[in-house]
Amino acid sequence: MTVKKCLFPVAGLGTRFLPVTKEIAKEMLPLVNRPIISYGVEEALGSGCEEIVMITGRAKRSIENYFDRSFELEDLLLRRGKKELYDKMIAISELAEILYIRQREPLGLGHAVLCGEPVCSSEYFGVILPDDVFIHTEPVLSQLIKVHERLGGSVIALELVSDEDVSRYGIASGVEIEPGIFRINDMIEKPKLSEAPSNYAIMGRYVLSPEIFPILHSQGTGAGGEIQLTDALRTLAKNEPVYGVVYKGRRFDCGTQKGWLSANIQLALEDPELRKMVLKVVEGK
Ligand code: G1P
Repeated sequence: MTVKKCLFPVAGLGTRFLPVTKEIAKEMLPLVNRPIISYGVEEALGSGCEEIVMITGRAKRSIENYFDRSFELEDLLLRRGKKELYDKMIAISELAEILYIRQREPLGLGHAVLCGEPVCSSEYFGVILPDDVFIHTEPVLSQLIKVHERLGGSVIALELVSDEDVSRYGIASGVEIEPGIFRINDMIEKPKLSEAPSNYAIMGRYVLSPEIFPILHSQGTGAGGEIQLTDALRTLAKNEPVYGVVYKGRRFDCGTQKGWLSANIQLALEDPELRKMVLKVVEGK
């Protein structure tokens, strides 16, 4: 009972990050010297997944190119004697087995997951929303997979958020069966504070049962006029166990300027060389 496939919805247009995302895929924005998407892919591989399924769109070709060979660049690096850099470029293209499926219309997260049905319908699979970047000691997806392996069922990552932030997320509630682990019985996508069943927000990591697909097929649109994964999970929780895990780690919402900038500063502070530079800039010396 383990999770070998991980789905990445990456077709979103990144409107919260305009104008930079007018021409650049938000997943390709750098966190220090690597694109945001590479952190999610490493997390999936570090959690034992062997196959990555990207649900992509027409403006996201740069993601495919990043994980592919680049013969012109490789040739140039070799001719210039930059073997170390050459090896790094090759390693990126050999990182993972990646499949790409086009989401032709932006109909929501639930619809993006549904696009993965042709390859994910026979087993439990992971989902990573790459905007949510975690600095952790153990990959957050791996924390969820461990709960799935012990208890079965689907698993979602939870974080306690303030009242002001409740309406930005999917909110879940349930019965705490072990410290930090809930059996979920209710979920609402982006509720008003007065309608929220708790302050536990769903963060961008999931282990999903393939039974999610028939539910998504028959489900109408929800919050924001989109097909919502949260709505499908609420239906799933009526038939099968869905657990919520309060994950260990620190999250940065790299789909917003503030979160992206904070992640860059934090990662730079963790690098001995860059740390000195950041402190110097902040202290104005
Ligand atoms: C999505 C989900 C939401 C979840 C959030 C986490 O929302 O629909 O339930 O809480 O990711 O980042 P989005 O950020 O795409 O609006």
